[in-house]
Parts: sequence; C-alpha cells; structure tokens
Amino acid sequence: MMKIPVAILGATGYTGAELIRLIDAHPVFELAHLGAHSQAGKLAGDVLPGCAGAVAEMKLAEADAVLPESVALVFTALPHGAAATSVKKALDAGKKVVDLSADFRHQSHATYRAAYQAEHPHPELFSEAVYGLTEFARDKIASARLVANPGCYPTSTLLPLLPLLQAGLVDCSAVIIDSKSGASGAGRSASVDLLYCELNESVKAYGLPRHRHAWEMEEWALGFGGESIHVRFVPHILPMNRGMLSTLHLSGENTASWHAILQERYADEAFVRVLPAGRLPSVAGVAGSNRCDIGLAVLDDHEAVLVSCIDNLLKGASGQAIQNANVMFDLDEGSGLCVHALWP
Ligand SMILES: NC(=O)c1ccc[n+]([C@@H]2O[C@H](COP(=O)([O-])OP(=O)(O)OC[C@H]3O[C@@H](n4cnc5c(N)ncnc54)[C@H](OP(=O)(O)O)[C@@H]3O)[C@@H](O)[C@H]2O)c1
Repeated sequence: MMKIPVAILGATGYTGAELIRLIDAHPVFELAHLGAHSQAGKLAGDVLPGCAGAVAEMKLAEADAVLPESVALVFTALPHGAAATSVKKALDAGKKVVDLSADFRHQSHATYRAAYQAEHPHPELFSEAVYGLTEFARDKIASARLVANPGCYPTSTLLPLLPLLQAGLVDCSAVIIDSKSGASGAGRSASVDLLYCELNESVKAYGLPRHRHAWEMEEWALGFGGESIHVRFVPHILPMNRGMLSTLHLSGENTASWHAILQERYADEAFVRVLPAGRLPSVAGVAGSNRCDIGLAVLDDHEAVLVSCIDNLLKGASGQAIQNANVMFDLDEGSGLCVHALWP
C-alpha cells in the first residue's frame, strides 16, 4: 500500500512523542517531518529518550519551517494559541490537519475567549473545524480538512454521558464530574507544581472555580447529546505518569435501563467498552491502549454513578488523533491502534 507522509508539529512534547510511537508502527502513515520549538535543530533521539531506530536520527525542524511538499497530513501537538497559526499555514499549504490543542474545539469566539481568556488569531476557521469525538462524528470527520481533537477530560466524560443524554434520561441541572489525571496531562514543560516532591504521595485538585474543559463538555453535550447541561467539574492530579479516571454523579430517570442503553450504543465500537454490570474500570486496565472503559453503579431509581477510564495520551489525545486521521484518509479506523492495555 502507498504510504502517506505526515508531519508532527510539537513532536518533542508528550502527545508528540506518543504520535511518533504510533505513526512509526502505522501500516500507512509514515513520519516525514518533526517540528519543535526550543529543541529545534537537535536530533529526535537526543530529546526523546524513548525514541529509537531511524526516527531517532531525524532532525527536529523549526516550528515555522516550510512543510515538505509530500506531506499530506499534519498533526499539531502544540500549546493552544500557538497551534492556530500553524494549523492555518498547513491548511493554506493544502494539507489536512488534526489539531490536538484546544484552538478549534469551540464553535464561537465568545466561548473560546471565556474558556481560554485569549483572543483567537483565526476564528474564521471555527465553522469548518470538526470536533473529533470519533464515535459521534465519523461522517463529518471523513470529509474534514481540519479535525479538532477533543480534550482528555471531555473525552472521558462525554463518552459515558452522551448516550444517556440522547435518551433524555439525565437531570441536566446538576452534572457533577470528578476527574483524576496522571501528570503527563499537564505536558512536558517545567513547572513547580509538577516537581516530583510536589506530586509524589499526594493528590490535589486544581483548575477551580471553573476549569476550561467545562466549557467544552457543555458545548458538546449540547452538540451531540441535544441537552443543555451545567457541569460542576473538579479535576485532580495524581502521581502517575498517564491515565485518567472520571466519576460522573448523575440524577435522572429509569436508572435501571442505563446499563443496557450504554451497552447497546457501544456494542460495535472497538475503542469503547461498557463493563458488565457491577464492574468498575481502572486506569491500569486502559493505560497504553486507545480504549475508554465505562462502568456503572446504580444507586436507586434516580441516582447513578458512572466511572470512565482512558489513557490521556491515547484515547485522550494521540490515539484518538490517529483514529480520526484513519477516518479522514478512509483507512481502517483501528489502523496502528491497540485495544489492549499495557498490563500489569
Ligand atoms: N498531555 C495530554 O494528556 C494532552 C491531552 C489532550 C490534549 N493535549 C493538548 O495537546 C497539546 C500538546 O500537549 P503536550 O502535553 O504534548 O504538550 P508539551 O508536552 O508541553 O509539548 C509541547 C510541544 O509544543 C512545542 N512548543 C512549545 N511552545 C511552543 C510555541 N510557542 N510554538 C511552537 N511550538 C511550541 C514544544 O516544543 P519544544 O519541546 O521544542 O519546546 C513541544 O514539542 C496541547 O495543546 C495540550 O493541551 C494534551
């Protein structure tokens, strides 16, 4: 099969490194260009300890370097704000783009401003960006030039929540979401909060009173679920490298039917697994895989708790980005992806 050359901008970050790992083993995509910022000019293998073989010998290009003509697809794994300009340049050069940042996840400038406290350099592209929660947007992703890959917290909450919203069974006035993330969720740049002694043997909440992903959850609960919800979302950081667990405290109707609704909705999905009644997921059960595991505990007729687990770097970022790219290029959606976790 003909190979499809791809570029990664932001190749030296955690999601960029995960993209390198996945693409180097992908049957169709091949690495043609790696972009960096402060590390530009070095070899990939000098900056990324896990990177081996021919890729390790690739030179990291400047962030604004001209992309090779051959490149058909660009992954932008850059901080929000910086990503938008690179996305625009790649689109203007005729490339398709999967953007892992938050820059194109919102449909209006007003929401972007509220969530990110910043002006957006290219709001004219909002209308064509497709929000890439793959299981809910395949048709649009297939014909998109620009896919906005969802955030990790929104992925871990929307997947369990949307089927129940679509069934009209959730009380939308109070959706309480408590999430825990591994430290790689904060990226690779240095920060005192992420020092070993600040994280180790501890757990802490952050991002209050309103974390920016709350806007994304609400926007796409309405976009895909058809319901206007108000989320109370509290993220926490844990001393683990990767993984994310979200607990959704929900009220609603007919909770006895919820498990069957979730099972039916995801019966044919390779990357979402609804666990048997009574079983709850764990981070160790998904780490290293592109899977989201969902468990449900019914408390009574009107109250239930949903628990979901993903690997923030896979289904929460680079794995879902590959899943979306596979759809954009009419490849098998699971190409280069794994449903099995790295366990133990
Ligand atoms: N980490 C996650 O779990 C996760 C999940 C979902 C989405 N995301 C999103 O994905 C994006 C990348 O996240 P990450 O965790 O991989 O970040 P990261 O580890 O901090 O890496 C950032 C990358 O962007 C480059 N960079 C930094 N500042 C830049 C600038 N001003 N202009 C151009 N390039 C710049 C860095 O290059 P140098 O190293 O050369 O400086 C590095 O390659 C972010 O928008 C993040 O919100 C992350």
